Amino acid sequence: MSGAGDGEAVQRRIEELRRKIERGSYEYFILDNPTMSDAEWDAALRELRALEEAHPELVTPDSPTQRVGATPSEGFATVQHPQQMLSLANVFDEAGLREWGERVYRLAGRRDVEFVVEPKIDGLAIALTYRDGRFTLGATRGDGVTGEDVTRNLRTVRAIPLRLHDADPPAPPVLEARGEVYLRKSGFEALNARRAEAGEPLYANPRNAAAGSLRQLDPQITASRPLAFFAYQLGYYELPAGARPPDTHWERLEWLRALGFPVTRDAARCATLDEVWDRCRWWQEHREALDFEIDGAVIKVNAIGVQEELGQVIREPRWAVAFKFPAVQGTTRLNAIEINVGRTGTLNPLARLEPVEIGGVTVSRATLHNEDEIRRLELKLGDWVVVERRGDVIPKIVKAIEERRDGTERDFVWPTECPTCGARVERVPGEAMSYCTNASCPAQLKERIAHFASRGAMDIEGLGGERVAQLVDEGLVADVADLYRLDRDRLIALERFAEKSADNLLAGIEASKTRPLARLLFGLGIRHVGERNARLLAERYAGLGEICAASQDELAGIAGIGPIVAESIVDFCGEERNRALIAKLASVGVAPRGEVRVAAADGPLAGKTFVLTGRLEGLTRGEATARLQALGATVTGTVTKKTDYVVVGEDAGSKAERATALKRPALTEAEFLALLTEAEGDAERP
Ligand code: IVH
Repeated sequence: MSGAGDGEAVQRRIEELRRKIERGSYEYFILDNPTMSDAEWDAALRELRALEEAHPELVTPDSPTQRVGATPSEGFATVQHPQQMLSLANVFDEAGLREWGERVYRLAGRRDVEFVVEPKIDGLAIALTYRDGRFTLGATRGDGVTGEDVTRNLRTVRAIPLRLHDADPPAPPVLEARGEVYLRKSGFEALNARRAEAGEPLYANPRNAAAGSLRQLDPQITASRPLAFFAYQLGYYELPAGARPPDTHWERLEWLRALGFPVTRDAARCATLDEVWDRCRWWQEHREALDFEIDGAVIKVNAIGVQEELGQVIREPRWAVAFKFPAVQGTTRLNAIEINVGRTGTLNPLARLEPVEIGGVTVSRATLHNEDEIRRLELKLGDWVVVERRGDVIPKIVKAIEERRDGTERDFVWPTECPTCGARVERVPGEAMSYCTNASCPAQLKERIAHFASRGAMDIEGLGGERVAQLVDEGLVADVADLYRLDRDRLIALERFAEKSADNLLAGIEASKTRPLARLLFGLGIRHVGERNARLLAERYAGLGEICAASQDELAGIAGIGPIVAESIVDFCGEERNRALIAKLASVGVAPRGEVRVAAADGPLAGKTFVLTGRLEGLTRGEATARLQALGATVTGTVTKKTDYVVVGEDAGSKAERATALKRPALTEAEFLALLTEAEGDAERP
């Protein structure tokens, strides 16, 4: 009797402990910002273990006791750095940089001081000690005086040499290299993708991921993380009597490279502060293109003698400085969450922010992806949030700052009705997205028409998002077919339309009637039918009617299509509204046909290789390529002995010459078209 009550209490306690331990691990490994002492965490885990041992029926696979790497160890031993690991003073602009440089000149008593400018990689500083050429100790920076011994984890980092290479001068008895452990952006994305799949919390940025990965108590976990390393400084050393290390930073970097370390890339020597500033800006401009995160550039005095004269203040050398790029993160208020409806009816949340300047750009919106993302971030309306901006991509919210809540924040409620049309919202099981269930929802309609008109689809010149919205709002179009019935006079009567723009738009619409079936299919925005699937379908069927007549099994049988796409097509065609739209399109002259192909592998041109060169009058290269491929031919870019035909258009260049040299048959455009038409005729005959 009392057993049942006890059981419940035990269960509750177990849950409590699991949550606490998980929170502790999360703060420690992922946020790198623990609020719980190690002792408290250990005690919680010990208590949980004991309870689970006494009640094995309550053990679940997701308990922290079951997780590899979460086993407590004594943590890491501490290491005294043989030479303090310094940090850097920061400057934030050109003026700050020049001020620093002028002080260097003043203190050095001369102006012919050379500098080295390096990228400042955003990772974790470490020191690697080699004795007699062998890696013996790897330590984190810690507070600069005392760090943690992470040797076992660092051994798993492939960029770190376990033995030094032969170099000139050779590896000394003791050598310490300092540098940064980091994750490449690609490695970071892959790691987070893995974690998302496993339902684990995501790392906020590569730096946190690198820190979390390096401080794993189980080296096997570290080994599974794609950590990288680069060396940027020679640290402590003991040399044989009489030997001296190179006396410039630049040569020391070269020595480190020769000893087998990956060394900071694209370091540059600069003779003047103008050059230094140019190089800093160069890094800022190149930053997005790099596969690793940098948060600035580091400027160092090259001559070690001058470095020694300058010395250090507290923990910062006077001979080096960091130029920090303008912050890419900022904090601001979340004013509202707006829901936009996409063309397939997806509800896309967008954060409306109190405008804030981040990295020189004013940010007032951020993506939120979907309902789950809002939940993951535990956002409340009115929250202070950390916002991050990278390159041209739309900024994202990194986290809510819970400490700054004052009770006025409101919960955000995910809508059950479409914010535009009021229709019911549905979330498909197994998908993260929610959908508006009304296909004539005006928001969806605008997006659908804009998609239909877009480059990869019907490519209607002059019909962008704003124009589409105007046409829909004015009631001139209620579906894509209405575009083809637009009346010139009514267009001209609209605001922002002149005769010329109306004519241009109508011409653009008219021209789109000849787009091939694949583009029309893609433009219709059938769920799961992207450009690739549209092409596959267009190779098999003569027109939309034939596609809609196909059974789900038949569609699913097409190589590359599969059951989900097939189902989606059958659903689309099954809707009366869509069938009516297809008929309406045909009635206004949009019914591309004649592209039917047999399976490419056994087409009439199977095994033949074509090279297209020069400009063709009657069709684009893309169209020519598509038609050839559909007939089984291969189209390549270079003329070789294996080339069967070279199609020579206007202004053909070296490829035509090469064709003659290699005695490959050249076809004029007319000959080529004749060959195409004949082969297509063959393909259509049963
Ligand atoms: S030199 C005395 N060079 O920045 C020189 N540091 O804010 C000390 N860092 O702890 C560091 N790239 O983690 C140096 N090329 C580079 C660097 C770099 C990144 C980091 C390092 C250091 C922090 C100082």
